[in-house]
Amino acid sequence: MPIVDLVRDALSTVIDPEIRRPITEIGMVRSVDVEGSTAHVGIDLTTSGCPMKDRITGDVKDAAMRVEGIDEVTVELGAMSEEQRLELRSKLRGGKPEPVIQFTQPGNMTRVYAIASGKGGVGKSTVTANLAAAMAADGLKVGVLDADIFGFSIPGMLGVEGQPTRLDDMLLPPIAHEVKAVSIGMFVPEGQPVVWRGPMLHRAIEQFLADVYWGDLDVLLLDLPPGTGDIAISVAQLLPHAELVVVTTPQSAASGVAERAGSIATQTSQSVVGVIENMAWMEQPDGSRLHVFGEGGGQIVADRLSKTLGTDVPVLGQIPLDITAREAGDAGTPVVISDPDTPAADAMREVARRLTGRQRGLAGRSLGVTPVKK
Ligand SMILES: Nc1ncnc2c1ncn2[C@@H]1O[C@H](COP(=O)(O)OP(=O)(O)O)[C@@H](O)[C@H]1O
Ligand SMILES: [Mg+2]
Repeated sequence: MPIVDLVRDALSTVIDPEIRRPITEIGMVRSVDVEGSTAHVGIDLTTSGCPMKDRITGDVKDAAMRVEGIDEVTVELGAMSEEQRLELRSKLRGGKPEPVIQFTQPGNMTRVYAIASGKGGVGKSTVTANLAAAMAADGLKVGVLDADIFGFSIPGMLGVEGQPTRLDDMLLPPIAHEVKAVSIGMFVPEGQPVVWRGPMLHRAIEQFLADVYWGDLDVLLLDLPPGTGDIAISVAQLLPHAELVVVTTPQSAASGVAERAGSIATQTSQSVVGVIENMAWMEQPDGSRLHVFGEGGGQIVADRLSKTLGTDVPVLGQIPLDITAREAGDAGTPVVISDPDTPAADAMREVARRLTGRQRGLAGRSLGVTPVKK
């Protein structure tokens, strides 16, 4: 093989850190020339201000240097033309010229779980962030959409800073702990509240689903706002096959508000996968369990939902109250990553595996069959 081709071959091992595809495949390698033992590589970035340009330059140099006979590499950075970007966007959309919600397309295999709760503060976002990180650590491709527009907390819990990179009207989601995450919190200035009404909320969720380049995901998790408001309904409309996971504490279970978040499924024809009881107890130094918020709440909610929905709604797991879990969330590293051996991390991981190990049902899924008119 001519040495130029060997260098090109080596460059196919360089993965764009945001798009997660080889740079050779997404049209970023403009030119490769070899003069003596020096390789000159021209790279077209998606935008000239690409925040990843140093990393890409370094990776290109490392890859080209590994080719036998090359001992120097120069990298010339440029930016893609309008036309190249259009082509890239269409390629990332799988050849579709317009943004579409990929998760509802026929043949899409992404499992979508919407994490719901009756009220705030029960640990819905903590659970979402941990399930996502645990699934990603198990090698799955995971995305998190923070649908809690008014009370977003996913960027903080996953430790994502800054905005998604824009490829014109397409957004490349930041990746933290190998999880792709998008949240309204990445767009609003710090300390500023989001004051929106129904239609704008709907549009925001729609954009997060269609305009974000999620790539091929195994699992998409949505952190829903508490209750059964506009956003929960928008999610049900936009993602009819999303399955609900209800998070409750033993205490909020008693009031009956937890199952309302699940009962919405009767109206939206979504299904409820199960209930997670969070803050179930606190482990004492002597190994005993202190049931700070009461006992058996998760089971109560699961039983009531089973009755209301007429399907078997199980308790997926009980997660203990654990200071490390709170600290980890505050620090932007989910406890399943920061302290994987704690009881809370164990419990989170177990729920994650239960969810990913489930048989995929066909209920609510488009089979991609068009009925023939007679
Ligand atoms: N199992 C747990 N152990 C300790 N603290 C927890 C646990 N689950 C959640 N928390 C803490 O409780 C608070 C509320 O959790 P959060 O996930 O923000 O709830 P929600 O999203 O339901 O409003 C956060 O400070 C979080 O760190
Ligand atoms: Mg939350």
